[in-house]
Amino acid sequence: MTQLTFPRGFLWGAATSAHQVEGGNDNSDWWDWELAPGTPCAAPSGAACEHYTRYPADIALLASLGLNTYRFSVEWARVEPSEGVFDARELDHYRGVVECVLSNGLVPMATLNHFTLPRWVAAEGGWTSKRVPALFERYCRRAVEALGDGVPWYCTINEPTALSTGGYMSDWGFPPRVVDVRRWRTSIGLLVDAHRRAVAAIHEVRPGVKAGLAMYSCERAANAGGKPASEFGQRMNEDVFLEATAGDDFIGVQTYTRSQLFLPRIAAPLTRLALAIRPLEGVVVPRVLALKTAVAGTQAPPGARLTQMGWEYRPESLAAVVRRYSRLCPDKDLVVTEHGVATADDRERVEFIARGLTALREAMADGARVRGYIHWSLMDNFEWAQGYRPTFGLVGVNWKTQERTVRPSARYLGGIAKTGRLEVMDDPGPEAAGMAAAARQGSATA
Ligand code: BGC
Repeated sequence: MTQLTFPRGFLWGAATSAHQVEGGNDNSDWWDWELAPGTPCAAPSGAACEHYTRYPADIALLASLGLNTYRFSVEWARVEPSEGVFDARELDHYRGVVECVLSNGLVPMATLNHFTLPRWVAAEGGWTSKRVPALFERYCRRAVEALGDGVPWYCTINEPTALSTGGYMSDWGFPPRVVDVRRWRTSIGLLVDAHRRAVAAIHEVRPGVKAGLAMYSCERAANAGGKPASEFGQRMNEDVFLEATAGDDFIGVQTYTRSQLFLPRIAAPLTRLALAIRPLEGVVVPRVLALKTAVAGTQAPPGARLTQMGWEYRPESLAAVVRRYSRLCPDKDLVVTEHGVATADDRERVEFIARGLTALREAMADGARVRGYIHWSLMDNFEWAQGYRPTFGLVGVNWKTQERTVRPSARYLGGIAKTGRLEVMDDPGPEAAGMAAAARQGSATA
């Protein structure tokens, strides 16, 4: 048995996002989206986890596990329900959340946009409206002022890729769910601008706090035939946003799986040629990106072990991404702001954490500047278009009674957080290490 040690001061946490847990977010675009005729959503978010009122107990629970950080999001749709009108009660609410996090001895990390928009911003064109960067900047300034000086970490936008590709170039079920190259490119540019303005606003209001972007990212594998499409996906879904982090204090890494693209050799020159013909891009780009794996990382090879999301079960993808970002941005701190798995068998989550952290620690030993690991998610919640079926929680939620059940994985991660140590079997191969961790944790499945 070997003990892996993590640095003192490492952030150990769990994350949520406002719309996924609070409930009743009825001024937002997603609320309308879930209820619209023909919605792709499996269920409306409704009351979600009632975290809006139950947050004191949820935060105390997180602290009792031994974690030291809570990542949550502030809901723009609540704070600015109509243009230029800031709701003081809602700002006080989030100030109360921060105070609760602090009084539980935890470090707060606040995300200023986690996918949802106020209805009126969506009506303006959402992330394709030229006004949105300035509107977002104004909202960020107000929110950061209202939260007080106790928040040392801010994420501006959660996974801009999910808003650009998710909304304008895919069938992920994200609004407005169109395939439109022009609007897709526009949204990318505006998201970059909005992020940069938000970082500047955060620094201006609270000098010294750390501001960053929570990056969608996945490990990628491709053969010679799939390489150009895979690289195009990586460039447009990750690297354009990675470049926008130049003035940031840290990069938030969010990785769930690996994208694999294996195509016949002839696909390579054809893809390159097709992508080079700019006037044809309206036709070509959707087709290239429709090779889903190049973009979403959701298509697993035949026979692969899958999660409830249909993604390849691959905890080590996290370290692959961390290594790549360290190579590309060697001077930047990295914080894992999401890593998790949707599974009905909690032993798989214990294994996911054990294997993910083992690989992460190795990357750190090789020089990656990782400052923390924040698991997705604190509790089961509204998984966007998938509704309530996938269960990502360290804590289970009974949807009838709202009762919380602490799963063994929560205690497992909490134990690592308390000691800063992870025990791994000597050279057992990654799967065996994870299985051993799961076995030690008991066979309970929540
Ligand atoms: C998002 C979360 C989501 C999770 C699992 C991330 O892309 O930030 O909101 O629940 O992935 O799909």
